[in-house]
Amino acid sequence: MAAGLVVEETLHMVPGDGETSYARNSTVQSGLQSKLKPMIEEAVASLLKDDGVTANAYCGGMAIADLGCSSGPNTLVLVSTAVDAVRRRCSELQQQPPELCIHLSDLPSNDFNLVIRSLATYIKTQESFSPPVLTSIVPGSFHGRLFNKSSLHLVCSTASLHWLSKAPEDLVRNGIPFYDRDEKVRRARRSTVIKAYARQFNDDFTRILHMRAQEMVPGGRMVFSLLGQSAILFLEFTNAILHEMASKGLIDNEKLGSFYIPLYGPSENELREIIEAEGSFSIDKMAVHESLDQNGIVAPETAARAVRAVMEPIITQHFGPSADAMDEFLRITEKFIKMSPLDEFSPSKSSAFVAASLTRRT
Ligand SMILES: C[S@@+](CC[C@H](N)C(=O)[O-])C[C@H]1O[C@@H](n2cnc3c(N)ncnc32)[C@H](O)[C@@H]1O
Repeated sequence: MAAGLVVEETLHMVPGDGETSYARNSTVQSGLQSKLKPMIEEAVASLLKDDGVTANAYCGGMAIADLGCSSGPNTLVLVSTAVDAVRRRCSELQQQPPELCIHLSDLPSNDFNLVIRSLATYIKTQESFSPPVLTSIVPGSFHGRLFNKSSLHLVCSTASLHWLSKAPEDLVRNGIPFYDRDEKVRRARRSTVIKAYARQFNDDFTRILHMRAQEMVPGGRMVFSLLGQSAILFLEFTNAILHEMASKGLIDNEKLGSFYIPLYGPSENELREIIEAEGSFSIDKMAVHESLDQNGIVAPETAARAVRAVMEPIITQHFGPSADAMDEFLRITEKFIKMSPLDEFSPSKSSAFVAASLTRRT
């Protein structure tokens, strides 16, 4: 991502459902969604209390949103988990479920054609239920306003809210690269770089909370997981691959200095402090989720393909490499992961996510 580019106008995952697409390479994120399901179910249960007023509270319907839905098999997982949980809970309470509206939101450059095809299939599975599930597509950035005031009851998100609105200003202004070619300089500047990223995340996440606070009803719930503190290792890992590519002449060496991947992962404490300082939400629960399979690993090929599906558009925008260069990116990524499966550089080591469940204060 070039220093001057506006992330929100350009960022997207690899579109479509081809071999390198996000749709075909998002099993790591799918594992995270499974881990978030109990938190979503708990949030739904708290929204639908056994107090006799539930039916009235939702006579205007219940609105559920996914922020950063992307495209592919994961797109509908969070909202459909919430829909199923509402139906189950209402059946337990022997109440008629409210009318439900699911909003799928992502940046305008997301592959919404694929999202609409998934939605059409999903709607068919819901035809026998009454009242119906209504759907809406909301293109836009979660750093800004997306929905009407006081209209949302449940907001969900996985693997998205760690994306920043821009490269950290302090670094761009002072011409400090994320990853200096010179290892000594890189080490000396590491804490300056991390602090600049942390400041940008603080500003962006505060804004995300502020926007959602306006859009959510008092008592509404927000459940999400995002990359944790070791995201910085993932950024270093990706930059190390790009340096190897530059050394092979596959991408322009000169362009490395102005390449910033606009994402940051906070520690649990950092996230807690930002939420408390913003003040609109109380914290019900926080947890750390590992994005590993049941055996505690992600196969190197799977991890490498996942990195490509997320990073390819950003890399090609900045460096403009050919598909061949991106095939080489995949090979080097896999090689690095195999070389150091337990190294701190490895995505399988640096993939802890922070999950949180919040309530909009009344
Ligand atoms: C790795 S994908 C995660 C998709 C899906 N939630 C999952 O768990 O598989 C991250 C998504 O966040 C979206 N995203 C990044 N920044 C965004 C922003 N400012 N506003 C809305 N969506 C954003 C990207 O376009 C991308 O589709």
